[in-house]
Amino acid sequence: MQLLIENIRELVTVNGGGRPFKTGKEMRDLGVIKDVCVFVEDGIIRWIGSTGAFGLSLNRDADVIDASSLVALPGFVDSHTHALFAGSREREFAMRAEGKTYQEIAAEGGGIASTVASTRATSKKELKKLTSKRLDSMMKHGTTTVEIKSGYGLDPDTEVKMLEAIKELADEHFMTIAPTFLGAHAVPSEYAQNKDAYVELVCEHMLPYVARKNLARFCDVFCEQGYFTLEESRRILERAKSLGLQLKIHADEFNAIGGTRLAAELGALSVDHLEHIQAEGIKALRGRETIAVVLPGVSFFLRNPYAPARALIDAEIPVAIASDFNPGSCMAFSMPLMMTIACTQMSLTPEEAICAATLNGAAALGLSSILGSIEVGKQADIILYDIPDYRYLAYHFGTNLVATVIKKGTILEFS
Ligand code: NIG
Ligand code: FE
Repeated sequence: MQLLIENIRELVTVNGGGRPFKTGKEMRDLGVIKDVCVFVEDGIIRWIGSTGAFGLSLNRDADVIDASSLVALPGFVDSHTHALFAGSREREFAMRAEGKTYQEIAAEGGGIASTVASTRATSKKELKKLTSKRLDSMMKHGTTTVEIKSGYGLDPDTEVKMLEAIKELADEHFMTIAPTFLGAHAVPSEYAQNKDAYVELVCEHMLPYVARKNLARFCDVFCEQGYFTLEESRRILERAKSLGLQLKIHADEFNAIGGTRLAAELGALSVDHLEHIQAEGIKALRGRETIAVVLPGVSFFLRNPYAPARALIDAEIPVAIASDFNPGSCMAFSMPLMMTIACTQMSLTPEEAICAATLNGAAALGLSSILGSIEVGKQADIILYDIPDYRYLAYHFGTNLVATVIKKGTILEFS
């Protein structure tokens, strides 16, 4: 199949120049080209050049789009979500409006435990149906790759149910999906008095099974007071590493207990959250390849401080933006919205926000050699927006500006 997108008003390539991610000042260089054509064959970008210079003859059934009034960006890569879950937690949202904190609500039996109860009670088929609808909506908003974590099961059967559902969705849905095992998301109530036994279950039963059945590419841990200590996180992540999984960690969300240093030491692919990262954590990440994934929607939704993304970028640490979409701490998955919050609350420039939501997000999933930018040889995940200029995207927030979604060279039609 062939696709020619011609006369593109503005093409934001986010060209990485052969590097897996951008850091520091490079994040402001998006490789923008005006009045340009992109030619795609069999889902891969084959040619990019000025309008008029395209010399190949097209097949009769080739798709042709006139993008003279449109701006093209790479599909967004949302590298941190908990998008597979049942139930919802609007009651907690209302409680927070009255002054309760996320941790107080969790201590009263709400929080992750409440979504665990509903996810355990829901069939794999129903979970897939709920999630598939969410994936459709994410794609309509310009996201073409998403990471999804388990972690609302916290028992072997439900964790496997979640990971199988994610895997099946990866086969059946247009979205590119990267699965993460997050058995250490919280301690389930049945192990409340015996946390060691739960960590043992994760390390010696769940992780080996997940690795053997190839159910996840990554292992994540919620390293936080009241969840998993630094020592427990280390044990789980080292076990995962020994089984061939790549590492991610929820670190410094409410308290800095050493998770960031651990991520750097173990060579984690990403370290996520960082709302309370300290100078020591920033020092640990300097000069490493671990991607700092910041989650603007969580701080906005929970009234938590924002991660110091400006300082991280200035320290040349590779930064990605993700939604953390989940029913508790961020019930939103619009990446343009996350970019708006990053610009207004974290002082990122629109250019940095775009780079963080595309190429650097792909790097946080180890996928930036095949997606995350519009370059010859990469997968054709391209979004066309009905906007005058790429800066307009984060500027005009609260509405969907997507005109056309192209996934692996296919123009998607939504009902
Ligand atoms: O990334 N921090 C831990 N996990 C999620 C919240 C999950 C939930 O509240 O259901 C997060 O914020
Ligand atoms: Fe999370």
